[in-house]
Amino acid sequence: MPAIAIIGAQWGDEGKGKATDVLGSRVDYVVKFNGGNNAGHTVVINQGDKQEKYALHLLPSGILTPGCTPVIGNGVVVDLNVLFEEIDGLEARGVDTSLLKVSASAHVIADYNRTIDKVTERFLGSRRLGTTGRGIGPTYADKMNRIGIRIQDLFDEKILLAKVEGALELKNQILTKIYNRRAVTVEATVEELLTHAERLRPMVCDTGLLLNQALDRDETVLLEAGQATLLDVDHGTYPFVTSSSATAGGACTGSGIPPMRLDRVIGIVKAYTTRVGEGPFPTELHDEFGEHLRKTGAEFGTTTGRPRRCGWYDAVIARYAARVNGVTDFTLTKLDVLTGLEQVPVCVAYDVDGVRHDEMPVNQSDFHHAVPIYEYLPGWWEDISQARTLEDLPANARAYVAAVEAMSGARISAIGVGPARDQTVVVHDLI
Ligand code: GDP
Ligand code: IMO
Ligand code: MG
Repeated sequence: MPAIAIIGAQWGDEGKGKATDVLGSRVDYVVKFNGGNNAGHTVVINQGDKQEKYALHLLPSGILTPGCTPVIGNGVVVDLNVLFEEIDGLEARGVDTSLLKVSASAHVIADYNRTIDKVTERFLGSRRLGTTGRGIGPTYADKMNRIGIRIQDLFDEKILLAKVEGALELKNQILTKIYNRRAVTVEATVEELLTHAERLRPMVCDTGLLLNQALDRDETVLLEAGQATLLDVDHGTYPFVTSSSATAGGACTGSGIPPMRLDRVIGIVKAYTTRVGEGPFPTELHDEFGEHLRKTGAEFGTTTGRPRRCGWYDAVIARYAARVNGVTDFTLTKLDVLTGLEQVPVCVAYDVDGVRHDEMPVNQSDFHHAVPIYEYLPGWWEDISQARTLEDLPANARAYVAAVEAMSGARISAIGVGPARDQTVVVHDLI
């Protein structure tokens, strides 16, 4: 059967991990195609009356589904220490990670890039981006500059040495002359990179070939994005973005699956909006409603623990995400968090210096000045966490879903009503 992409429609943390996990038992492969351990996906699984909570950073959420093959695609940047910490952590909890495959062409995050990420942020001061400090940006920059280290380089010591030497010629200039840090030695860098090489070797393969052959056999491949549309390096709120392609196009380049093989693009969109780090955010709330959403939605980062900035649903952004990604279906998450509000505002357009914008302004300065134009929808008080069908939702919650669907450019096929796997209202079956 098909290749399906799961994409974040806002600024991340929409619940992509849960959405992937919900589909996990019906897919054969789950592929992470972009980003690295800047991502944080929380997946909650009910086991009897106990709730098991997993925080995943580098591994695709499909790792939690027995029999599903998790794949780290060529578009990912891999911190090898984090990879094995995560594997060991899951194995210790009884999760089988033996099926994991890693692309020979994925890039490796070297220690000097973690350092450069952190010192660059410090250097930028008030102009900082609020990165996760995991070395993501500098590693993608090296990839584009063609001085990156790839997974396959770890298995050819001569090549590895030459590449590290080449990279350090530049990096040491930056570290010592710009940032006043100590130079890094080739030996220490090579030694660190090779720490896990032998453990890694059996996992490494041509994942593009593996996935295309799986599709030839009619197996189902799910491509799970890290980050989201507005953090995408091309389509996001540049420069306040991550350094990878988090949109549907990136699902192809980051996995080696060609565009015409993608059957479905599922946009994950929260029933309100959050953002971590710096950058514009038109519907951001600085009042008690923002605090309410943060508290009720437990909006604190899975990766850095930072409180997430919170605001109302923004249909302009959802429409933009639908367009950029070719969203066929939305999963609307965290609807339960909106329970108990008198009215629920939804941003339908922006006012930019007196001019109405129904679409994302192309000019970043306009987006910085965008003032939301709200429509106010009636709230509901009933507990919806046990709802499993649309009919189980109170009329006003159903009306909210219908209104948001009409504004957002694609049908809503699933609705999240709680963090656990089964707390999902399925409107249309996706596989
Ligand atoms: P991701 O990065 O897109 O995978 O999202 P995160 O895991 O960083 O953040 C989403 C958070 O919301 C996690 O803590 C999930 O357990 C939780 N979550 C996901 N869907 C729902 C939902 O429908 N309702 C509630 N209350 N929590 C949800
Ligand atoms: P998931 O996959 C939310 C943000 C950072 C920062 C910017 C650049 O969990 O949705 P980076 O370290 O990537 O160079 O930081 O991007 N960011 C995220 N925000 N969710 C994420 O991932 C994020 N990954 C990066 O906060 O503003
Ligand atoms: Mg997250």
